[in-house]
Amino acid sequence: MRRLALFLAIFSAFSFAHAQRHESLLELRDRVFELARVQAVYMDSLLPEGSYPRTFQGDTLVTSDIGWWCSGFYPGVLWTIYDHTKDKGIREMAVRWTRPMKALLEMPTDHDIGFQLMSSYGYWDCCVKKGPESPEEIAEIERVLQTGAQKLADRFVPSAGVIRSWNFGDWNIPVIIDNMMNLELLMEYGDEKVAEIHALTTLKNHFRPDGTTWHLVDYADDGSVLGKQTVQGFSDDSAWARGQAWALYGYAMMGFWSMSSDDLYIETARKLARWIIDNLPEDGIPYWDFSQTDYKDASAAAIIAAGLLRLWEVRDEDTVNPTGLDDLLLPTAERILRTLASPEYLAEPRTNGGFLLKHGVGNLPSGSEIDVPLTYADYYFLEALMLLPND
Ligand code: GLY
Repeated sequence: MRRLALFLAIFSAFSFAHAQRHESLLELRDRVFELARVQAVYMDSLLPEGSYPRTFQGDTLVTSDIGWWCSGFYPGVLWTIYDHTKDKGIREMAVRWTRPMKALLEMPTDHDIGFQLMSSYGYWDCCVKKGPESPEEIAEIERVLQTGAQKLADRFVPSAGVIRSWNFGDWNIPVIIDNMMNLELLMEYGDEKVAEIHALTTLKNHFRPDGTTWHLVDYADDGSVLGKQTVQGFSDDSAWARGQAWALYGYAMMGFWSMSSDDLYIETARKLARWIIDNLPEDGIPYWDFSQTDYKDASAAAIIAAGLLRLWEVRDEDTVNPTGLDDLLLPTAERILRTLASPEYLAEPRTNGGFLLKHGVGNLPSGSEIDVPLTYADYYFLEALMLLPND
């Protein structure tokens, strides 16, 4: 009996590996999106009204209200599935989960209003072109995004040249590297100048000589640096994996939007991309901190894949490629996506609380969300698949 079980395990691993070798990346994308549609509908059936998915622990779907920084990612997952499949039922669900996010405009928020609104209302705005929305509704979507962008810009401290990240803690003006992701809301719907100043200050103070980044920099009112440390990484001097992922994606994104400092941003992202590629494990999935070897973090992997693909988008095809980095961007993204789309990471239909990916790490030092699904892992996984070149 034990021999039969061993034979079946080896046989199914072999069949999967065999099937994968013959699956093109675009076939893989279709397979994942078909599963994503099933999972998203299943998750909708599990969610209490007004509660947004956060993770799945034990047998429990853990939810949050709109105020949690991840609230926009489930609507964003729905918009991404609609974008790929054009399924009208999914579109209706996306609208239904996006509309309540407007309440953020009346609530106390922090820098994460960028994440919250861009993945929900921002994606809706991208999808209105051929949609059924009235001109009034389209104007309302724009208003929400512009008002949200103003809320983010109001957090800017001109004397320090940064947007304040958090509202809690004993820091003076804390800025975490994650904040780079929130700048897209400003670049598209708000004060680009504020975003550029923040990105340039961060570039000056957050990065180490090897290209990696600290998690948190605390500023005095005059912009001098009071301290550099980690909160979610292993140690102040280690490279927290999701922090590196946010920085990579954030500077590639700024390279796309900026009219003036694009080269500087792209160079920063390229240097970090090279470090990440050189330090990724064989399967492409980093541990939650690059100095550790216990828990893998699928969320960092998904964001890195999306970041590498955004960097691929802004590469300069006319210049030489002296370090050979351009030749590594697509193959590394592919390596990551193939592992995430394997049974080790991808959920079976109607399991995992409706999440797609397993094995994410939220905040290990505070003992929260270790080896679990995470909404942002799913969102950036799907986004990376959408960013794949179509040929
Ligand atoms: N922005 C929070 C995190 O990455 O955990």
